[in-house]
Parts: sequence; C-alpha cells; structure tokens
Amino acid sequence: MNANEEKVLILDFGSQYNQLIARRVREIGIYCELKPFSMPFEKIQGFGPMAIILSGGPSSVYDEKSPKIDTRIFEMGIPVLGICYGAQLMAYTLGGKVVPADSLANREYGRTETEFDTNSSLFGNISSKSITWMSHGDSVERIPDGFKAIAHSAGCPFAGFENTAKNFYAVQFHPEVKHTEEGFEILRTFLMDIAGAKAQWSMANYKLTAIEQIKAKVGDGKALLALSGGVDSSVAAALMSQAIGEKLTCVFVDHGLLRKDEGDQVEEIFSNYPVKFVRVNAQKHFMDKLAGVTEPERKRKIIGEEFIRVFEAEAKKIGAVDFLVQGTIYPDVIESGMGSNAAVIKSHHNVGGLPDYVDFKEIIEPLRNLFKDEVRQLGRELGLPEYLVSRQPFPGPGLAIRVIGEITEEKLAILRDADWIFRSEVEAAKVPEASQYFAVLTNTKSVGVMGDGRTYDYTLALRCVSTSDFMTATFTRIPYDVLEKVSHRIVNEVPHINRIVYDITAKPPATVEWE
Ligand code: XMP
Repeated sequence: MNANEEKVLILDFGSQYNQLIARRVREIGIYCELKPFSMPFEKIQGFGPMAIILSGGPSSVYDEKSPKIDTRIFEMGIPVLGICYGAQLMAYTLGGKVVPADSLANREYGRTETEFDTNSSLFGNISSKSITWMSHGDSVERIPDGFKAIAHSAGCPFAGFENTAKNFYAVQFHPEVKHTEEGFEILRTFLMDIAGAKAQWSMANYKLTAIEQIKAKVGDGKALLALSGGVDSSVAAALMSQAIGEKLTCVFVDHGLLRKDEGDQVEEIFSNYPVKFVRVNAQKHFMDKLAGVTEPERKRKIIGEEFIRVFEAEAKKIGAVDFLVQGTIYPDVIESGMGSNAAVIKSHHNVGGLPDYVDFKEIIEPLRNLFKDEVRQLGRELGLPEYLVSRQPFPGPGLAIRVIGEITEEKLAILRDADWIFRSEVEAAKVPEASQYFAVLTNTKSVGVMGDGRTYDYTLALRCVSTSDFMTATFTRIPYDVLEKVSHRIVNEVPHINRIVYDITAKPPATVEWE
C-alpha cells in the first residue's frame, strides 16, 4: 500500500478523548479519520482502512440503547484495536462477558499501575510495569475464546487481551492519554508492527495530494473565498491558489477592526500569490454602522450582518461562481458531527452564514480533515510567513469587542498601538504557555499625573491566558519585569493611557474576551 493511501478508521463511541486518538495516529504518521460508530458497513469498506480503532465511550454494553457495532467489521481481515468501551464491546460482541459497574467494588479511575505481558504482540516494545490511565465502570470478566490476557492491574484482570490469529487487540485503559506512560508506543506497535503501516504520511505529501484533488474537482470552474487574514482562511487561500491559480478570487473585507498593520500584511502576502485578490476597504461603512453602539451583542450582530452584506455586494460583481471555499477545520467537523449543544455564550461571528447569500453550486472545504497545528504546518509547506501561520486566535468582530463601549477611530488607534507593544514584548520575552494575549481599552478614565500636570485618561487592561482548548483558561503568570517594561513603554509611547491593569481572572468565571 502506498504510504499516502494508508488510512486508519476510528469509530467514535463518544469518549472525551477521541480527538486525542486521531491526534496520536497522525503523529505516528498515518492518515486517519474519526467517524460515528453508526457508519454504515458499506461506507467503512469504501473508506478502505488498513486498521480500525474502536474508541472509548460513556456507555455500558448492557444498556439497550448503547452503541453497538456492525459485526462484519470483524470479518474484514484487518487489525482491530478496542479501547475502553471499545474493548468491552469487542469482548461482548465476540462472546466474552462484561460485568456492570454496580457489581464491582473496584471501579478504576485515574493513574493505575499496570503489568504487561511483554511476550505479547501488543506490548512487546514496552516495559513490564508502568502507569496507565483508567476510566471505567464496567469491566471485562471473561475474554472471548481465542483471546489471551496480556495485561492486568489491581482492579482489572483483563486490562489488555489479544487474539493474534485474528489480529484483534483490546486495552481497558486509554493509550491516547499522556498519563499512560507508554501509550504512544502501544499505539505505534499496533499500527506499524501489527497493521504494517509504513507511516510516512506527511504534510508535504498531503499538500501534493490535496492540490491534485482540488484541480480535478474544480476543473475549469471558478471559486470564491472570503479571506479574513486568520490562519484557516489564509491557508485555504494559499492551497487553493496553488491548485487553481486565478480561477480563485479571494475577497478580503477590511472592516477596520483589525490589529496594527494586519490589513496591509494580508494584502501584501496575497498580492504575491497567483489569485485574484480583492480588498474591500469597508472601514467607514462599519464605523458608520457601529456609531453610538455600546452593547456587546449588538456590536457582534452588526458586524456579522454587515460583513455578509459587503461580501455579497462584492460577490455580485464577480457573478455566479461554481465553488465557495470555506476554511472549516477538523475540530469543527467533529464538534458538529457529535451534535455539540454547548450553550451560546456569545454569538460567534464566522462566515458560516454565507452560503445563503452567494450564488454558487458547491462548497469546498480543503482543510476539513486537518487539526489546527496541521493547518499551520500546511501553511508553512505552502510558503506562508511564520507570523501568519502561528497567529493566535483573533475574534471575527476584531477590536470592536476589545474597545469597551462605543467605538471611535481614536480609541481604535490607541488600542492598536498599545496592543502591538504588549504582543511584541510577550513574544520577545518568550513567555511560556501564553496562548492568547492582547490589550483591551476600557471605558474607565481615571486621574493620573504626568510631568507637572494632572491627566484624566483611559485605563488599559492587558489579558494573557494559558489554555489548550479556550473552553477554560487560566491567566498566564507573566514575569513582573516583562509587565513593567510593557507598562513603561505603553504610557510613554501611546497617548491617552495613564493606567494599566493586568487581568488575573480565569475562565470561568470570566471569558477570554471582555465583551
Ligand atoms: P471567549 O471570550 O468566549 O473566547 O472566552 C474564547 C475564544 O474564542 C475567541 N472568540 C471569538 N472568535 N468570533 C470568533 O471567531 C467571535 O465572535 C469570538 N469571540 C471570542 C476568543 O478570542 C478566544 O480565543
């Protein structure tokens, strides 16, 4: 099998760690996709996996409604690895016995000392004893015929079992979680030694394959992309442009709410690419619409709606297109597939509403199989500058939600300069774990003294958070000398700021943004 055709299918039974399984498989160098457990068998066959992983999940095989599996996957002749619920399901489906949690005194949760049979196929490359991460109620009490027990812990006699004749493997713990000390090696052994993967999937290969696929799909058609200057839409634009050149038009709506120099940087980069690049200077339009508006949700709504209007007007000039390109990435796809019902805390402005307004036949989402760090890697392969590909998240409504209260040109100018100083100093100091950092111009004025005179000027807030998923976050412990330098520079270099505070709240209860 060509290394680029090697694919692993992960069937999703709902565990919170599922994205991590996919991450690890890709880190090993094999392309994989996470699909719902209910994927029809014909589709599974059509996908052509070289191995299947059954993920963990919160269910019990004994619940009537618990997710089950099409047993024909065990007749495909390919290696299968069950993890946690996936292991129990494999045992149950193939004739073993699983006992429910309430009949067991010893449920296991957390770091667990586990012993391994290092003569087994699955654990041949690890030590005989190490820590695994357990998180289960039900347990396997009897393994199916043909299987052999290959790992145990104090509370779990069948922490691992295998049937090498059939190439079926199962682990009760979570090898994808970093707390399982040798988990990565276990997954690597399964995929490379057992399933025989060459594991040469790389972003350079991915780029070439993606370009060929896009070329074949677009043919002589025309495509349109809304470029925001963020990582995803920029990488999508660069990829599309290398595939179809001037058949792609990128429309960059500059709403005037970007950070210092950002609009010009986007223009400079993409005017060097072989695409039709249109920058719409809609700064005044947005300022007019936002005049006098102070309420955060109103600001977001106005910006979202106006964005679509301006884009639509521009798209009309171009006429009908065949394809609309969107920078959707894999985590968005997984989230929507699982029907995430997370409460809408703020109405996020993205270009997701566009399809209704633009005349096109089909959507292309060239990044829909990539994780964020893979998107950045692809951007590097495509030759985008580092400052763009490593950009931190930036909200669609931009600085409008970082100027508290009414937005004016003057306030935006103050914020841009102060924010730029703060960001450059955090970067220069290489502050560890700073995931997102920016300045907020509050609408509080206070008394200060400068030279011999009394001042009455704005308070600026600095926000820097550490987080891996932006759902929760802590404030970053920026060293005092860095904060001192930032404060000194801002009050000296940016007029109208006479007081600076550092935001020391976590999320929750605060959000990352102030509005
Ligand atoms: P919050 O403030 O909700 O932010 O804790 C979490 C992350 O989301 C970003 N954010 C947005 N992104 N449109 C976006 O595209 C928005 O309206 C928006 N609001 C917040 C925020 O910067 C942080 O990374």
